[in-house]
Amino acid sequence: MAVESIYCSVCGRRVKVHSRYDMPVLDPNTGFGICKSCIKNIYHYIEAEEENKAYTNKKNFNDELGELLAKNKPHIIKKYLDEFIIMQERAKKILSVAAYNHYKRMKYDLDNNGGDDEIDKSNVIIMGPTGCGKTAMLSHLSRLLDIPFAVTDASSLTEAGFVGADVEVAVRNLYYAAGKDIEKTERGIIYLDEFDKIARKSGENNSITADPGHEGVQQGLLKMLEGSVVEFTERGQRKHPEAPTIKVDTRNILFIVGGAFVGIEKIIEKRLKKNESPIGFGSEIPSKEDTDKKFNELIHQVRPEDLMKYGIIPEIIGRLPVICTLETLDEDALLKILTEPKNAPVKQYEKLLAMDNVKLEFEEAALRKVAKMAIERKTGARSLKGIIEDVMLDVMFDIPKSDEPRRIVITEACIKGEEQPKILPLEESKLAKETA
Ligand SMILES: Nc1ncnc2c1ncn2[C@@H]1O[C@H](COP(=O)(O)OP(=O)(O)O)[C@@H](O)[C@H]1O
Ligand SMILES: [Mg+2]
Repeated sequence: MAVESIYCSVCGRRVKVHSRYDMPVLDPNTGFGICKSCIKNIYHYIEAEEENKAYTNKKNFNDELGELLAKNKPHIIKKYLDEFIIMQERAKKILSVAAYNHYKRMKYDLDNNGGDDEIDKSNVIIMGPTGCGKTAMLSHLSRLLDIPFAVTDASSLTEAGFVGADVEVAVRNLYYAAGKDIEKTERGIIYLDEFDKIARKSGENNSITADPGHEGVQQGLLKMLEGSVVEFTERGQRKHPEAPTIKVDTRNILFIVGGAFVGIEKIIEKRLKKNESPIGFGSEIPSKEDTDKKFNELIHQVRPEDLMKYGIIPEIIGRLPVICTLETLDEDALLKILTEPKNAPVKQYEKLLAMDNVKLEFEEAALRKVAKMAIERKTGARSLKGIIEDVMLDVMFDIPKSDEPRRIVITEACIKGEEQPKILPLEESKLAKETA
């Protein structure tokens, strides 16, 4: 290459170009070029800017954390959860403390510049029957704290190499919940639902037909729980060497694993019987109430060794220091769930119908019938809304046909399907009630 003199388009100086290195950016067609020393300056400028930004981010985050902690002390979190979740007092308390400690730990880490005396993570295992409020409680918690939250079904995960979703999918789901913001993702909450379904087969609970990949899934999750950099591709992209990957550090992600752990009460009972006197409820066939009462008493006494017997590997149990147990909901609890929480189904229907100028009334007996039917369905509070929805379908179809102020009374017979809820003019329904 002959030595040429070219003007740098940035600093305007004439540069003797011995090699590409003297003018790293050069377009021979237009003569546009940037000299080595300008590029160095730009590089330093960018580096300083990024360092500065990283520092500001860290400072902002520290301030944010301080605010989050001041605003969300455990008793405040609990009070908020109380507005939505009926019963489960102990679980609400445990979760409030766990969440608070989690963010305190993060702050400690930041304040101490990531020293080696970090506080252990308080990942949580949450157990309780279907429809008792596990998912609901966590989603309200994340809403209060204003942090991203994603639920991933652990039973859909498979060991790398098997057909199905890799464990990274849990982090990827959170990344999407955080609007693809990596920093937000790294402070979110991951809920691994159906965690009991990945118990290993050698666990004492044989009611579960586990496949051999389950222990592998637990091993895979272990690294994430401990805190590691997880790499994944965007949704819909196959994992191949060239696909761009997203990296997320899980060190500050709060992991909550949960499930119904069907049958674990038997393992707990067996252990207790061995050690202490058994909890007796008579020898005759126990009633539903007795079974529930016994379950509720037993579940709170769960210990790590019971989980091990159930088929969760000891390393995982070691990473889940907080055990949060929820109770079976009885009829009275279900009745309260229908009307008391801020977002109670009855309140929601009242609001919906009020928009069509209709006053909705449920008779007490009707609500109790809904609770009874939900108990029969054995899915906790999960079926409450569906039962009401079925009853309300026709009236909700008919109501908007007119703007007249009206009134609807839902009776027990309506819930039983013996009669249709009647749409009445405001006065008439009052009369009907008085003559009834
Ligand atoms: N203890 C509770 N208090 C209020 N609502 C509840 C409670 N338990 C369940 N629900 C309601 O029932 C539905 C199912 O509950 P969910 O939290 O999904 O159950 P699961 O324990 O199986 O995760 C949700 O709509 C939730 O609001
Ligand atoms: Mg759930």
